[in-house]
Amino acid sequence: MDKKQKLQTLSGMRDILPEEQVYFKRVQKAVESITQYYSFSRIDTPILEQAELFIKGTGADTDAVSKEMYSFRTKGGDLVALRPEFTPSIARAYIEGGMYNLPQPVKLWTSGPLFRHERPQAGRYRQFFQFDFEALGDKSPSIDCQVIQMSYDILKDLAFKNITIEVNSIGDQECRPSFKKILAGYFKSKKVSLCSDCQRRLKENPLRILDCKEEKCQQVKAGAPQIIDHLCEACHAHFKQVLEFLDELELPYTLNPYLVRGLDYYTKTVFEIVEKSEDGSSQGSLVGGGRYDNLVKMLGGRDTPAMGAAGGIDRIVNLMKTRELKPDKKPAEKPEIFLAQLGQMAKRKSLKLFEEFRSAKISVAESFSKDSLRTQLNTANKMGIRWVLIFGQKEALEEFITLRDMDSGVQSEIPLSKVVEEMKEKINKK
Ligand code: HAM
Repeated sequence: MDKKQKLQTLSGMRDILPEEQVYFKRVQKAVESITQYYSFSRIDTPILEQAELFIKGTGADTDAVSKEMYSFRTKGGDLVALRPEFTPSIARAYIEGGMYNLPQPVKLWTSGPLFRHERPQAGRYRQFFQFDFEALGDKSPSIDCQVIQMSYDILKDLAFKNITIEVNSIGDQECRPSFKKILAGYFKSKKVSLCSDCQRRLKENPLRILDCKEEKCQQVKAGAPQIIDHLCEACHAHFKQVLEFLDELELPYTLNPYLVRGLDYYTKTVFEIVEKSEDGSSQGSLVGGGRYDNLVKMLGGRDTPAMGAAGGIDRIVNLMKTRELKPDKKPAEKPEIFLAQLGQMAKRKSLKLFEEFRSAKISVAESFSKDSLRTQLNTANKMGIRWVLIFGQKEALEEFITLRDMDSGVQSEIPLSKVVEEMKEKINKK
Protein backbone atom coordinates (compact mmCIF):
# COMPACT_ATOMS: atom_id res chain seq x y z
CA MET A 1 0.00 0.00 0.00
CA ASP A 2 1.18 3.52 -0.79
CA LYS A 3 2.58 4.95 2.46
CA LYS A 4 0.54 8.11 2.05
CA GLN A 5 -2.70 6.31 1.30
CA LYS A 6 -5.13 6.65 4.19
CA LEU A 7 -6.70 3.62 5.80
CA GLN A 8 -10.43 3.91 5.21
CA THR A 9 -13.61 1.87 5.03
CA LEU A 10 -14.02 -0.42 2.03
CA SER A 11 -16.16 0.73 -0.85
CA GLY A 12 -19.86 0.27 -0.05
CA MET A 13 -19.16 -0.04 3.68
CA ARG A 14 -19.43 2.72 6.25
CA ASP A 15 -19.26 3.62 9.91
CA ILE A 16 -22.53 4.25 11.69
CA LEU A 17 -21.42 7.33 13.61
CA PRO A 18 -22.87 8.32 17.00
CA GLU A 19 -25.25 10.92 15.50
CA GLU A 20 -26.79 8.23 13.30
CA GLN A 21 -27.13 5.69 16.10
CA VAL A 22 -30.27 7.40 17.44
CA TYR A 23 -32.03 6.60 14.16
CA PHE A 24 -30.91 2.97 14.20
CA LYS A 25 -32.05 2.72 17.80
CA ARG A 26 -35.42 4.19 16.94
CA VAL A 27 -35.98 1.60 14.17
CA GLN A 28 -34.88 -1.18 16.51
CA LYS A 29 -37.35 0.06 19.13
CA ALA A 30 -40.24 -0.01 16.64
CA VAL A 31 -39.28 -3.52 15.51
CA GLU A 32 -38.93 -4.78 19.07
CA SER A 33 -42.29 -3.44 20.14
CA ILE A 34 -44.16 -4.85 17.13
CA THR A 35 -42.49 -8.26 17.10
CA GLN A 36 -43.18 -8.57 20.82
CA TYR A 37 -46.82 -7.66 20.30
CA TYR A 38 -47.19 -10.37 17.65
CA SER A 39 -45.29 -12.96 19.77
CA PHE A 40 -42.16 -13.29 17.64
CA SER A 41 -39.08 -14.52 19.56
CA ARG A 42 -35.59 -13.19 18.97
CA ILE A 43 -33.05 -15.44 17.27
CA ASP A 44 -29.44 -14.71 16.27
CA THR A 45 -27.69 -16.75 13.62
CA PRO A 46 -23.97 -16.62 12.68
CA ILE A 47 -22.74 -14.04 10.19
CA LEU A 48 -20.63 -16.72 8.52
CA GLU A 49 -22.32 -19.85 7.13
CA GLN A 50 -21.57 -22.63 4.67
CA ALA A 51 -21.82 -21.05 1.22
CA GLU A 52 -23.99 -23.98 0.17
CA LEU A 53 -26.81 -22.77 2.43
CA PHE A 54 -27.30 -19.70 0.24
CA ILE A 55 -26.46 -21.44 -3.03
CA LYS A 56 -29.27 -23.91 -2.30
CA GLY A 57 -31.57 -21.59 -0.36
CA THR A 58 -31.35 -18.14 -1.93
CA GLY A 59 -30.60 -19.71 -5.32
CA ALA A 60 -27.42 -20.24 -7.35
CA ASP A 61 -28.52 -17.98 -10.20
CA THR A 62 -29.90 -15.09 -8.08
CA ASP A 63 -27.89 -11.87 -8.16
CA ALA A 64 -27.44 -12.05 -4.37
CA VAL A 65 -25.54 -15.34 -4.76
CA SER A 66 -24.08 -15.46 -8.28
CA LYS A 67 -22.77 -11.89 -8.38
CA GLU A 68 -22.83 -10.46 -4.89
CA MET A 69 -21.98 -13.12 -2.33
CA TYR A 70 -18.78 -12.70 -0.30
CA SER A 71 -17.47 -16.25 -0.16
CA PHE A 72 -14.06 -17.72 0.50
CA ARG A 73 -12.32 -20.95 1.41
CA THR A 74 -11.17 -21.44 5.00
CA LYS A 75 -7.72 -22.85 5.75
CA GLY A 76 -9.44 -26.21 6.20
CA GLY A 77 -10.86 -25.97 2.66
CA ASP A 78 -14.53 -25.27 3.51
CA LEU A 79 -16.40 -22.86 1.25
CA VAL A 80 -18.05 -20.31 3.54
CA ALA A 81 -19.98 -17.09 2.93
CA LEU A 82 -20.90 -13.89 4.73
CA ARG A 83 -24.70 -14.04 4.93
CA PRO A 84 -26.38 -12.05 2.13
CA GLU A 85 -29.80 -12.43 3.84
CA PHE A 86 -31.36 -14.02 6.92
CA THR A 87 -34.08 -16.31 5.57
CA PRO A 88 -31.99 -19.43 4.71
CA SER A 89 -30.10 -19.13 8.02
CA ILE A 90 -33.36 -19.02 9.98
CA ALA A 91 -34.75 -21.97 8.02
CA ARG A 92 -31.53 -23.88 8.78
CA ALA A 93 -31.76 -22.95 12.48
CA TYR A 94 -35.38 -24.14 12.51
CA ILE A 95 -34.29 -27.56 11.22
CA GLU A 96 -31.07 -27.76 13.25
CA GLY A 97 -32.76 -26.64 16.46
CA GLY A 98 -35.61 -29.16 16.06
CA MET A 99 -38.13 -26.32 16.14
CA TYR A 100 -40.58 -28.43 14.08
CA ASN A 101 -41.32 -30.17 17.41
CA LEU A 102 -42.67 -26.95 18.90
CA PRO A 103 -46.25 -25.77 18.49
CA GLN A 104 -46.51 -24.25 15.00
CA PRO A 105 -46.13 -21.64 13.67
CA VAL A 106 -42.73 -20.84 15.08
CA LYS A 107 -42.35 -17.08 14.88
CA LEU A 108 -38.82 -15.71 14.88
CA TRP A 109 -37.24 -12.31 14.35
CA THR A 110 -33.72 -11.00 14.11
CA SER A 111 -31.68 -8.02 12.99
CA GLY A 112 -28.05 -7.40 12.09
CA PRO A 113 -25.54 -6.85 9.29
CA LEU A 114 -25.66 -8.55 5.89
CA PHE A 115 -23.24 -8.47 2.98
CA ARG A 116 -23.81 -8.16 -0.75
CA HIS A 117 -21.10 -7.11 -3.17
CA GLU A 118 -23.43 -4.73 -5.04
CA ARG A 119 -22.45 -1.70 -7.10
CA PRO A 120 -22.51 0.96 -4.37
CA GLN A 121 -25.14 3.65 -4.99
CA ALA A 122 -27.77 5.53 -3.01
CA GLY A 123 -29.52 3.08 -0.69
CA ARG A 124 -27.30 0.17 -1.75
CA TYR A 125 -24.44 -0.81 0.48
CA ARG A 126 -22.13 -3.79 0.61
CA GLN A 127 -22.64 -4.08 4.34
CA PHE A 128 -26.17 -3.16 5.30
CA PHE A 129 -28.60 -3.87 8.13
CA GLN A 130 -31.97 -5.56 8.07
CA PHE A 131 -34.65 -6.47 10.55
CA ASP A 132 -36.30 -9.72 9.58
CA PHE A 133 -39.21 -11.81 10.77
CA GLU A 134 -40.24 -15.30 9.75
CA ALA A 135 -43.29 -17.41 10.64
CA LEU A 136 -42.59 -21.09 9.96
CA GLY A 137 -45.13 -23.90 9.89
CA ASP A 138 -48.32 -22.11 8.86
CA LYS A 139 -49.88 -22.18 5.42
CA SER A 140 -52.90 -19.99 6.08
CA PRO A 141 -53.27 -16.70 4.18
CA SER A 142 -53.87 -14.91 7.48
CA ILE A 143 -50.19 -15.28 8.41
CA ASP A 144 -49.24 -13.64 5.07
CA CYS A 145 -51.36 -10.69 6.12
CA GLN A 146 -49.97 -10.59 9.63
CA VAL A 147 -46.43 -10.31 8.25
CA ILE A 148 -47.52 -7.58 5.81
CA GLN A 149 -49.36 -5.77 8.60
CA MET A 150 -46.31 -5.89 10.89
CA SER A 151 -44.05 -4.51 8.15
CA TYR A 152 -46.50 -1.72 7.52
CA ASP A 153 -46.94 -0.99 11.26
CA ILE A 154 -43.20 -0.56 11.75
CA LEU A 155 -43.03 2.08 9.01
CA LYS A 156 -46.16 3.76 10.36
CA ASP A 157 -44.69 3.79 13.85
CA LEU A 158 -41.68 5.59 12.39
CA ALA A 159 -44.13 8.22 11.02
CA PHE A 160 -43.73 7.53 7.28
CA LYS A 161 -46.66 8.90 5.35
CA ASN A 162 -46.87 7.93 1.67
CA ILE A 163 -46.21 4.24 1.94
CA THR A 164 -47.75 1.67 -0.34
CA ILE A 165 -47.77 -2.08 -0.22
CA GLU A 166 -47.30 -3.79 -3.58
CA VAL A 167 -48.52 -7.38 -3.69
CA ASN A 168 -48.56 -10.20 -6.17
CA SER A 169 -48.71 -13.98 -6.29
CA ILE A 170 -46.03 -15.84 -8.20
CA GLY A 171 -47.74 -19.24 -7.99
CA ASP A 172 -46.05 -22.50 -7.10
CA GLN A 173 -44.53 -25.60 -8.71
CA GLU A 174 -47.98 -26.48 -10.09
CA CYS A 175 -48.64 -23.35 -12.11
CA ARG A 176 -45.34 -21.51 -12.45
CA PRO A 177 -43.58 -23.81 -14.96
CA SER A 178 -46.32 -23.43 -17.57
CA PHE A 179 -46.46 -19.66 -16.98
CA LYS A 180 -42.69 -19.44 -17.46
CA LYS A 181 -43.14 -20.99 -20.90
CA ILE A 182 -45.82 -18.46 -21.82
CA LEU A 183 -43.61 -15.63 -20.56
CA ALA A 184 -40.55 -16.97 -22.41
CA GLY A 185 -42.62 -17.07 -25.62
CA TYR A 186 -43.54 -13.41 -25.17
CA PHE A 187 -39.99 -12.24 -24.39
CA LYS A 188 -38.49 -14.31 -27.24
CA SER A 189 -40.58 -12.30 -29.65
CA LYS A 190 -39.05 -9.11 -28.16
CA LYS A 191 -35.52 -10.45 -27.63
CA VAL A 192 -33.73 -7.69 -29.57
CA SER A 193 -35.28 -5.07 -27.29
CA LEU A 194 -33.93 -6.68 -24.10
CA CYS A 195 -30.64 -5.84 -22.32
CA SER A 196 -27.86 -8.43 -22.58
CA ASP A 197 -28.46 -9.68 -19.03
CA CYS A 198 -32.12 -10.30 -19.82
CA GLN A 199 -31.25 -12.09 -23.05
CA ARG A 200 -29.35 -14.54 -20.82
CA ARG A 201 -32.22 -14.61 -18.28
CA LEU A 202 -34.54 -15.62 -21.09
CA LYS A 203 -32.83 -19.01 -21.14
CA GLU A 204 -32.31 -19.40 -17.38
CA ASN A 205 -35.40 -17.85 -15.81
CA PRO A 206 -37.67 -15.51 -17.78
CA LEU A 207 -39.42 -14.42 -14.54
CA ARG A 208 -36.22 -12.55 -13.61
CA ILE A 209 -36.71 -10.27 -16.62
CA LEU A 210 -39.72 -8.82 -14.80
CA ASP A 211 -37.32 -7.72 -12.04
CA CYS A 212 -34.90 -5.89 -14.39
CA LYS A 213 -34.56 -2.17 -13.74
CA GLU A 214 -33.20 -1.28 -17.22
CA GLU A 215 -35.45 1.24 -18.98
CA LYS A 216 -35.70 -0.74 -22.21
CA CYS A 217 -36.66 -3.94 -20.41
CA GLN A 218 -39.25 -2.04 -18.38
CA GLN A 219 -40.90 -1.02 -21.64
CA VAL A 220 -41.04 -4.60 -22.91
CA LYS A 221 -42.31 -5.75 -19.52
CA ALA A 222 -45.31 -3.40 -19.73
CA GLY A 223 -47.01 -5.68 -22.28
CA ALA A 224 -46.01 -9.04 -20.77
CA PRO A 225 -48.58 -11.68 -19.73
CA GLN A 226 -49.46 -11.58 -16.03
CA ILE A 227 -49.04 -14.56 -13.72
CA ILE A 228 -52.24 -13.88 -11.78
CA ASP A 229 -54.15 -14.85 -14.93
CA HIS A 230 -52.35 -18.22 -14.90
CA LEU A 231 -52.48 -19.32 -11.24
CA CYS A 232 -53.63 -22.83 -10.37
CA GLU A 233 -56.77 -23.21 -8.28
CA ALA A 234 -54.98 -23.49 -4.93
CA CYS A 235 -52.75 -20.45 -5.54
CA HIS A 236 -55.67 -18.46 -6.85
CA ALA A 237 -57.80 -19.24 -3.77
CA HIS A 238 -54.90 -18.41 -1.45
CA PHE A 239 -54.24 -15.08 -3.12
CA LYS A 240 -57.93 -14.17 -3.14
CA GLN A 241 -58.06 -14.67 0.62
CA VAL A 242 -54.90 -12.65 1.17
CA LEU A 243 -56.46 -9.73 -0.70
CA GLU A 244 -59.71 -10.08 1.24
CA PHE A 245 -57.83 -9.97 4.55
CA LEU A 246 -55.83 -6.96 3.39
CA ASP A 247 -59.11 -5.23 2.55
CA GLU A 248 -60.48 -6.09 5.97
CA LEU A 249 -57.36 -4.70 7.63
CA GLU A 250 -57.76 -1.57 5.48
CA LEU A 251 -54.14 -1.70 4.42
CA PRO A 252 -53.25 0.49 1.44
CA TYR A 253 -52.08 -2.01 -1.15
CA THR A 254 -51.83 -2.08 -4.91
CA LEU A 255 -51.65 -5.13 -7.10
CA ASN A 256 -48.36 -5.19 -8.97
CA PRO A 257 -48.69 -8.07 -11.46
CA TYR A 258 -45.00 -7.85 -12.37
CA LEU A 259 -43.60 -8.04 -8.84
CA VAL A 260 -41.54 -11.26 -8.69
CA ARG A 261 -38.71 -10.53 -6.18
CA GLY A 262 -35.15 -11.55 -6.89
CA LEU A 263 -34.75 -14.60 -4.64
CA ASP A 264 -35.47 -18.18 -5.67
CA TYR A 265 -37.49 -19.58 -2.80
CA TYR A 266 -40.71 -17.60 -3.09
CA THR A 267 -44.07 -19.27 -3.71
CA LYS A 268 -47.52 -17.64 -3.81
CA THR A 269 -47.64 -14.26 -2.03
CA VAL A 270 -44.85 -11.72 -2.55
CA PHE A 271 -44.88 -8.10 -1.43
CA GLU A 272 -42.79 -4.98 -1.13
CA ILE A 273 -43.39 -1.72 0.68
CA VAL A 274 -42.26 1.48 -1.01
CA GLU A 275 -42.44 5.12 -0.07
CA LYS A 276 -43.48 7.46 -2.84
CA SER A 277 -42.39 11.08 -2.74
CA GLU A 278 -44.68 13.93 -3.83
CA ASP A 279 -43.49 13.60 -7.44
CA GLY A 280 -44.28 9.88 -7.41
CA SER A 281 -40.65 8.73 -7.46
CA SER A 282 -39.44 6.08 -5.03
CA GLN A 283 -36.02 5.11 -3.66
CA GLY A 284 -36.55 1.37 -3.87
CA SER A 285 -38.28 -0.95 -1.46
CA LEU A 286 -38.03 -0.39 2.28
CA VAL A 287 -39.40 -3.83 3.15
CA GLY A 288 -39.73 -6.95 1.01
CA GLY A 289 -40.95 -10.46 1.66
CA GLY A 290 -43.20 -13.31 0.80
CA ARG A 291 -44.18 -16.90 1.26
CA TYR A 292 -41.62 -19.68 0.82
CA ASP A 293 -43.37 -23.02 1.23
CA ASN A 294 -40.53 -25.21 -0.12
CA LEU A 295 -37.38 -23.73 1.43
CA VAL A 296 -37.28 -25.75 4.66
CA LYS A 297 -37.81 -29.00 2.77
CA MET A 298 -35.20 -28.04 0.19
CA LEU A 299 -32.68 -27.53 3.00
CA GLY A 300 -33.34 -31.01 4.37
CA GLY A 301 -36.26 -30.39 6.73
CA ARG A 302 -39.91 -31.44 6.70
CA ASP A 303 -42.56 -29.97 4.49
CA THR A 304 -42.95 -26.58 6.21
CA PRO A 305 -44.90 -23.70 4.71
CA ALA A 306 -43.53 -20.32 5.80
CA MET A 307 -43.86 -16.60 5.34
CA GLY A 308 -41.51 -13.74 6.18
CA ALA A 309 -40.22 -10.27 5.43
CA ALA A 310 -37.17 -8.08 5.89
CA GLY A 311 -36.69 -4.32 6.09
CA GLY A 312 -33.59 -2.40 5.01
CA ILE A 313 -32.65 -0.37 8.09
CA ASP A 314 -30.07 1.80 6.27
CA ARG A 315 -32.66 2.79 3.65
CA ILE A 316 -35.30 3.47 6.30
CA VAL A 317 -32.85 5.63 8.27
CA ASN A 318 -31.82 7.56 5.14
CA LEU A 319 -35.43 8.26 4.36
CA MET A 320 -36.24 9.25 7.94
CA LYS A 321 -33.55 11.91 7.59
CA THR A 322 -34.76 13.10 4.18
CA ARG A 323 -38.33 13.35 5.44
CA GLU A 324 -37.08 14.96 8.67
CA LEU A 325 -38.75 12.33 10.83
CA LYS A 326 -37.51 12.64 14.40
CA PRO A 327 -35.60 9.63 15.71
CA ASP A 328 -37.10 10.02 19.18
CA LYS A 329 -40.67 10.66 20.16
CA LYS A 330 -39.72 12.40 23.39
CA PRO A 331 -36.39 14.17 23.84
CA ALA A 332 -33.76 12.41 25.94
CA GLU A 333 -33.93 13.37 29.57
CA LYS A 334 -31.61 16.14 30.65
CA PRO A 335 -28.98 15.07 33.20
CA GLU A 336 -29.68 16.36 36.73
CA ILE A 337 -26.09 17.03 37.70
CA PHE A 338 -22.90 18.19 36.03
CA LEU A 339 -19.65 16.87 37.45
CA ALA A 340 -16.71 19.24 36.91
CA GLN A 341 -13.42 17.51 37.57
CA LEU A 342 -10.00 19.10 37.96
CA GLY A 343 -6.72 17.21 38.18
CA GLN A 344 -5.76 13.58 37.94
CA MET A 345 -6.65 12.51 41.48
CA ALA A 346 -10.18 13.96 41.25
CA LYS A 347 -10.69 12.32 37.87
CA ARG A 348 -9.65 8.96 39.27
CA LYS A 349 -11.94 9.30 42.29
CA SER A 350 -14.81 10.45 40.07
CA LEU A 351 -15.02 7.00 38.49
CA LYS A 352 -16.41 5.58 41.72
CA LEU A 353 -18.70 8.55 42.18
CA PHE A 354 -20.17 8.07 38.70
CA GLU A 355 -20.91 4.46 39.52
CA GLU A 356 -22.65 5.45 42.78
CA PHE A 357 -24.83 7.96 40.95
CA ARG A 358 -25.66 5.36 38.31
CA SER A 359 -26.78 2.88 40.99
CA ALA A 360 -28.94 5.63 42.50
CA LYS A 361 -30.44 6.19 39.00
CA ILE A 362 -29.32 9.83 38.86
CA SER A 363 -27.94 10.92 35.51
CA VAL A 364 -24.70 12.85 35.60
CA ALA A 365 -23.07 14.76 32.74
CA GLU A 366 -19.42 15.68 32.43
CA SER A 367 -17.24 17.28 29.82
CA PHE A 368 -14.45 14.95 28.89
CA SER A 369 -10.94 16.38 28.69
CA LYS A 370 -11.88 20.03 29.20
CA ASP A 371 -9.66 20.99 32.04
CA SER A 372 -10.53 24.58 32.96
CA LEU A 373 -13.28 25.07 35.52
CA ARG A 374 -14.66 28.04 33.57
CA THR A 375 -15.09 25.92 30.43
CA GLN A 376 -16.81 23.20 32.41
CA LEU A 377 -19.18 25.65 34.11
CA ASN A 378 -20.00 27.13 30.70
CA THR A 379 -20.86 23.69 29.37
CA ALA A 380 -23.15 23.01 32.35
CA ASN A 381 -24.81 26.36 31.77
CA LYS A 382 -25.42 25.63 28.08
CA MET A 383 -26.94 22.29 29.00
CA GLY A 384 -29.28 24.06 31.41
CA ILE A 385 -28.16 21.99 34.41
CA ARG A 386 -28.78 23.53 37.84
CA TRP A 387 -26.46 21.50 40.07
CA VAL A 388 -22.72 21.44 39.41
CA LEU A 389 -20.45 19.33 41.57
CA ILE A 390 -16.90 20.66 41.56
CA PHE A 391 -14.30 18.02 42.31
CA GLY A 392 -10.78 19.47 42.37
CA GLN A 393 -7.39 18.65 43.85
CA LYS A 394 -8.23 20.06 47.31
CA GLU A 395 -11.62 18.32 47.39
CA ALA A 396 -10.09 15.00 46.37
CA LEU A 397 -7.42 15.22 49.10
CA GLU A 398 -9.84 16.26 51.82
CA GLU A 399 -12.69 13.97 50.72
CA PHE A 400 -15.39 16.54 50.10
CA ILE A 401 -17.07 18.04 47.07
CA THR A 402 -18.17 21.61 46.28
CA LEU A 403 -21.75 22.02 45.14
CA ARG A 404 -22.63 25.06 43.04
CA ASP A 405 -26.26 26.02 42.52
CA MET A 406 -26.15 27.59 39.05
CA ASP A 407 -29.48 29.37 39.62
CA SER A 408 -28.32 31.33 42.70
CA GLY A 409 -24.54 31.08 42.32
CA VAL A 410 -24.33 29.85 45.96
CA GLN A 411 -21.64 27.25 46.76
CA SER A 412 -21.53 24.77 49.65
CA GLU A 413 -19.40 21.82 50.68
CA ILE A 414 -20.61 18.22 51.06
CA PRO A 415 -18.58 15.29 52.48
CA LEU A 416 -17.80 12.86 49.67
CA SER A 417 -19.48 9.96 51.48
CA LYS A 418 -22.79 11.87 51.67
CA VAL A 419 -22.88 13.45 48.23
CA VAL A 420 -25.15 10.92 46.47
CA GLU A 421 -27.66 10.92 49.32
CA GLU A 422 -27.78 14.73 49.58
CA MET A 423 -28.13 15.22 45.84
CA LYS A 424 -30.94 12.68 45.76
CA GLU A 425 -32.83 14.79 48.31
CA LYS A 426 -32.20 18.04 46.46
CA ILE A 427 -33.37 16.58 43.14
CA ASN A 428 -36.51 15.05 44.65
CA LYS A 429 -37.34 18.33 46.40
CA LYS A 430 -37.45 20.24 43.08
P1 HAM B 1 -34.57 -8.39 -0.07
O1 HAM B 1 -35.62 -7.78 -0.90
O2 HAM B 1 -33.36 -8.89 -0.74
O3 HAM B 1 -35.28 -9.57 0.76
O4 HAM B 1 -34.13 -7.37 1.05
C1 HAM B 1 -35.06 -6.78 1.93
C2 HAM B 1 -34.75 -5.30 2.10
O5 HAM B 1 -33.38 -5.13 2.46
C3 HAM B 1 -34.92 -4.47 0.82
O6 HAM B 1 -36.26 -4.09 0.68
C4 HAM B 1 -34.01 -3.29 1.10
O7 HAM B 1 -34.68 -2.31 1.88
C5 HAM B 1 -32.89 -3.88 1.93
N1 HAM B 1 -31.67 -4.12 1.13
C6 HAM B 1 -31.43 -5.14 0.29
N2 HAM B 1 -30.21 -5.02 -0.27
C7 HAM B 1 -29.65 -3.90 0.25
C8 HAM B 1 -28.40 -3.22 0.09
N3 HAM B 1 -27.44 -3.68 -0.69
N4 HAM B 1 -28.21 -2.05 0.78
C9 HAM B 1 -29.17 -1.58 1.59
N5 HAM B 1 -30.35 -2.17 1.80
C10 HAM B 1 -30.60 -3.31 1.14
C11 HAM B 1 -34.64 -10.40 1.60
O8 HAM B 1 -33.52 -10.21 2.04
C12 HAM B 1 -35.49 -11.55 2.08
N6 HAM B 1 -34.67 -12.40 2.96
C13 HAM B 1 -36.74 -11.05 2.76
C14 HAM B 1 -37.60 -12.16 3.28
C15 HAM B 1 -37.68 -12.59 4.55
N7 HAM B 1 -38.39 -12.92 2.55
C16 HAM B 1 -38.97 -13.83 3.34
N8 HAM B 1 -38.53 -13.64 4.57
